[in-house]
Amino acid sequence: MVLGILGSGSGSNMQAIFDAITAGTLAARIALVLSDNPDAFILERARRHGIATGLIDCHGFKTKFPAEAQQETAACLQAAGVELVCLAGFLRLVKQPLLGAFPKQIINIHPSLLPAFPGLESWQQALTAGVAETGCTVHLVDAGMDTGPIILQQAVPILPGDSAASLHARIQEAERRLYPAAIAKLAASRG
Ligand code: GRF
Repeated sequence: MVLGILGSGSGSNMQAIFDAITAGTLAARIALVLSDNPDAFILERARRHGIATGLIDCHGFKTKFPAEAQQETAACLQAAGVELVCLAGFLRLVKQPLLGAFPKQIINIHPSLLPAFPGLESWQQALTAGVAETGCTVHLVDAGMDTGPIILQQAVPILPGDSAASLHARIQEAERRLYPAAIAKLAASRG
């Protein structure tokens, strides 16, 4: 399974996927890491591991993912032979034409037990709602926000005295196990 990873931030999920491949628990290869943020640590991590990187030019838009930029992204991923696109902390909403270029081949990790708490700062949403547990979800990306079919989920307890930061850190620990496992599950189901 040839992977392309898109991220805007630290890249801890990309690191976990890389580590699982290195450890032999995930039969895959990361062909390309792309970011919309030239300063994102995910790019630095990728370079350190000798993985090809690229910058997505969103033409000055802060949150929008312009169609032209999506087209360029799709072309880069296709040229690298990518079979599965993994969003890992990528902060823009993927739409057409990128979705159409990789039908049922784009997945995302989200820090809640979807369909609960889609959108931003899901750990804070869970704390505010007063639920006993939250978690993380890997799902196929469709045209909605955090709405596609679920591949794998992991529950994370909310402990007495949890702050937004402590809960987020516990969810991220779970994410680092869940994302490689979800990719392996998808690869196995697709032969
Ligand atoms: C993760 O918490 C993920 O759930 C969310 O963005 C964060 C990315 O972290 N979508 P990292 O860049 O993989 O460290």
